[in-house]
Amino acid sequence: MTDKPAQKKLPALKAPKGVPDYVPPVSAEFRAVKEAFALAAHNAGYEHIELPIFEDTALFARGVGESTDVVSKEMYTFADRGDRSVTLRPEGTAGVMRAVIENNLDRGQLPVKLVYNGPFFRYERPQAGRYRQLQQVGVEAIGVDDPALDAEVIALADRCFRSVGLTGYRLELTSLGDASDRPAYRAKLQEFLRKLPLDEETQRRAELNPLRVLDDKRPEMQEMLVDAPLMLDHLSDQSRAHFETVTGYLDDMGIEYVINPRMVRGLDYYTKTCFEFVHDGLGAQSGIGGGGRYDGLMAQLGGQELSGIGFGLGVDRTLLALEAEAKSAASGRRVDVYGVAMGAEAKQKMVPLVDRLRAAGVAVDMSYGDRGLKGAMKGADRAGALFALVLGESELEQGRIAVKDLQAHEQQDVALDSVVDYLVERLRG
Ligand code: HAM
Repeated sequence: MTDKPAQKKLPALKAPKGVPDYVPPVSAEFRAVKEAFALAAHNAGYEHIELPIFEDTALFARGVGESTDVVSKEMYTFADRGDRSVTLRPEGTAGVMRAVIENNLDRGQLPVKLVYNGPFFRYERPQAGRYRQLQQVGVEAIGVDDPALDAEVIALADRCFRSVGLTGYRLELTSLGDASDRPAYRAKLQEFLRKLPLDEETQRRAELNPLRVLDDKRPEMQEMLVDAPLMLDHLSDQSRAHFETVTGYLDDMGIEYVINPRMVRGLDYYTKTCFEFVHDGLGAQSGIGGGGRYDGLMAQLGGQELSGIGFGLGVDRTLLALEAEAKSAASGRRVDVYGVAMGAEAKQKMVPLVDRLRAAGVAVDMSYGDRGLKGAMKGADRAGALFALVLGESELEQGRIAVKDLQAHEQQDVALDSVVDYLVERLRG
């Protein structure tokens, strides 16, 4: 006998900090939310775009803005083995614009309307609703500066949230002006800020990106900023008309909003219409989605002078909002049909039957191992199935199968060779 050295139990590994797993049953909610958002976008004519998870670091530095927290503090940036600086995408808009330019989508029919989804990465301090890997569904509508498009994008975000049953949120709206009215406002704001007793870091921010100072949450700062000039009061006639047309469309669609002239978006590319969806059940991380116009971004990334507008909806936070409202976006049904075979011979018939049902487009699972009827029926129940197919010795003998309607608590014996058609028909009805 050889002595085996005692194996030390290895510690279990954990996911990195701030990176959520979505496992059943919550993963069904996750999928339902993502699919509902994407469906709403497809229904409005948006086409799917699949983007790289990492890009050249320069894309985000140039597109999102060096002075933003996202770029200056939160990016996952590293040198790859070829010593190129690459970054895990912190957001989707810059990547979409890069892909649109690179693939000449902007040379065709405008607007280009695209929808995407997936993970984004920001090295933020993790807390409830704030993750380092976050999930978004986003849309971008590129190439036409029409307030009707702003209204469409905002209404679409609202429809996305409604489609999963959310109600406890509000839409906040403002206009950040455009390249013609922003510099004058910026100077006015800086003039105001220079007169305040600001700490050194805030002074620096006031020079670099004065709009961001308005977002300082410290009570003493908010007090000092009460009389700060607001962009919304300094819009050019053109920007004002654009904004009023957008709000007019929203009124016509019956979409409620509040004007928040102090809104500060965390990314630098925004112009004109900006919006956020805020949910009251989430505590500090209350933004469930946001977006706006970014009329200079394409040129900034080396493309044409084309405008754009879009949004990013937070899937993680939508799940938390659903939980706060005690609502579910998922059906709770894993499959429609569940097969239960009693004995080896029955199983031999059940395996190909399940396969034929799947080929006919029926969502079906079956009981594995030898669980006994009670245990197997529990499996059918847990799967949320509408029908259980029970195949035992007596059914086998007659070439039939018992179809149990688990909602109506009724049972019917059906010939084995017609059960696929029978179920397809019942499920259609
Ligand atoms: P954003 O406001 O930075 O915009 O992010 C959009 C949404 O993503 C937020 O409202 C929030 O729900 C979610 N989110 C952001 N950071 C986190 C985090 N650390 N943890 C969990 N959820 C988070 C953008 O990303 C823009 N690209 C949206 C856009 C598209 N604007 C125009 N087009």
